[in-house]
Amino acid sequence: MDKRSLPRFASLTLIALLSPPLLARGEGRLDPEIGQAQAVGTEHGMVVAQEALAARIGADILQKGGNAIDAAVAVGFAMAVTYPRAGNIGGGGFMVIHRASGEDTTIDYREAAPQAITEKSFLDGQGNADPQKSRDSALAIGVPGTVAGLALAEEKYGSGRFTLADLIAPAIALARDGIAVADDTADALPRDRARLARWPSSAQIFLKADGTPLAAGDRLVQGDLADTLTAIAKGGPRAFYEGPIADRLAAAVKSAGGVMTVDDLKSYRAIERAAVHGTYRGYDVVSMPPPSSGGVVLIEMLNILEGYDLAHDDAAQALFLMIEAMKRAYADRAFFLGDPDRVEVPIARLTSKDYAGEWRATIDPAHATPASELRPGHPTAPEGGNTTHFSVVDRFGNAVSNTYTLNFSYGVGLVAAGTGIVLNNELDDFAAKPEAPNAYGLIGYEANAPGPGKRPLSSMTPTIVLKDGAPFLITGSPGGSLIINVVLQVVIDVIDRGLDLAAAVSAPRVHNQWMPDLVIAEPGLSAGLVAALQARGDKVMVRRLPTSANSILVGPTGFIGAADPRTRGALAVGF
Ligand code: DON
Repeated sequence: MDKRSLPRFASLTLIALLSPPLLARGEGRLDPEIGQAQAVGTEHGMVVAQEALAARIGADILQKGGNAIDAAVAVGFAMAVTYPRAGNIGGGGFMVIHRASGEDTTIDYREAAPQAITEKSFLDGQGNADPQKSRDSALAIGVPGTVAGLALAEEKYGSGRFTLADLIAPAIALARDGIAVADDTADALPRDRARLARWPSSAQIFLKADGTPLAAGDRLVQGDLADTLTAIAKGGPRAFYEGPIADRLAAAVKSAGGVMTVDDLKSYRAIERAAVHGTYRGYDVVSMPPPSSGGVVLIEMLNILEGYDLAHDDAAQALFLMIEAMKRAYADRAFFLGDPDRVEVPIARLTSKDYAGEWRATIDPAHATPASELRPGHPTAPEGGNTTHFSVVDRFGNAVSNTYTLNFSYGVGLVAAGTGIVLNNELDDFAAKPEAPNAYGLIGYEANAPGPGKRPLSSMTPTIVLKDGAPFLITGSPGGSLIINVVLQVVIDVIDRGLDLAAAVSAPRVHNQWMPDLVIAEPGLSAGLVAALQARGDKVMVRRLPTSANSILVGPTGFIGAADPRTRGALAVGF
């Protein structure tokens, strides 16, 4: 039965009114305002992305015989044009690849701190963390990784049927000819107007002459970006990291008060890293290693939860246990995770079943553990926002899970004059100072202190779940600190709760990140579920979580794609 049919809704309302102590699996989950994702089925290939033109470009590459990596690279460049608030060539991200041959790998194209960044870069005169510096100033700009990352993925794992130039060509055409502003871009621009208005080079592209933002139906033409992409198509990634484009990037950052130099750009490299690997109830979980915390924290939470029967426990108890796992793994995130090329990260221990067992032993099934009892720290407020995730599969058995970002919507808001490149503010993801929260309320310590050339710790969690060694679920999400918990819940909704993909992607979720000591529950969760968490001692705030888990499930008869209904304009498309 459809988990969201009307009779069920009526029964949920009843359950909410009665607030029974025991809620059955699958109960209490509906957000009529968000609605449910539409499942799209295809046989030969599938792309699910936040923006429809880019998703179709990827599907077209698949149809022309390309593999999932070719398609992902084309989508990545296209979204820099069609979804400029998060799609990018001025930011960075992570790509997880499963190859038809059975191997898994990842590409780390996270931004790196310029050489002039130190532990003190984001402090004020009194030695306190200064969010203005790490979020709103050009000091926050990390060396962009996207061009190097997409080029490396294509060079190593593309099918060989396309040149990099072939895969960039559709993006160039859209930048040059312009696109109609629509959907989430139209929704977001009014909110981001003030950030963009600070620089004429940005205002010229995204605002009208009177300073109001481009609105639905207006044309977004990006001529400079078309020229930049053309130069990359002709000269390869080095045309971005050296020469006139790099000169302009460094000059723009310098004149805005930042410290990124041409040498920083020249020495940037995307890095291929071994995926982190876990198992969950017989499935293999392949995800992103540090400098993202995503894979380690996800696997740690799944390992803790594997010791419980989430499918048959009552729904409130299952949610409670998930929240207890979240607290513990996010506390470890704060203390142990950082750039693995600069700090020792105990990945093997944190992702081991034994370690999860030790944490499980500290969970009281009836009472919430206060966050401060897990590890010391100080509570702060969380936020969400503006990254973008896309998932791709092909008919050959390859899959790509890719999340990339500028950090905030339109990053720091600065377009480097003459390049069309929107620059990130990713360095806010460092712990500016021990226990000083970043924009997502995440705190950290030495492992994630700012430093020259260092990559700030991320929460992005592009993930591929394998069944019998073949792709089963491809998922990930934007949402800052929320991301890892979103992926956790999509995995659990599919594997434990047996939801179909559209229901799993749409289902209301909960979030806890250790500090602050607070559970955020989406409005679609029933009052009964919320009350049951409160009865166990959790503080609960009901609020919508801005995420977008564009996912693919591989079934016996083909691919099922579901775009998250929380953000307008996403598309699942294949052939
Ligand atoms: O890498 C990270 O974890 C963050 N910079 C991601 C930012 C994000 O997801 C923003 N919004 N949705």
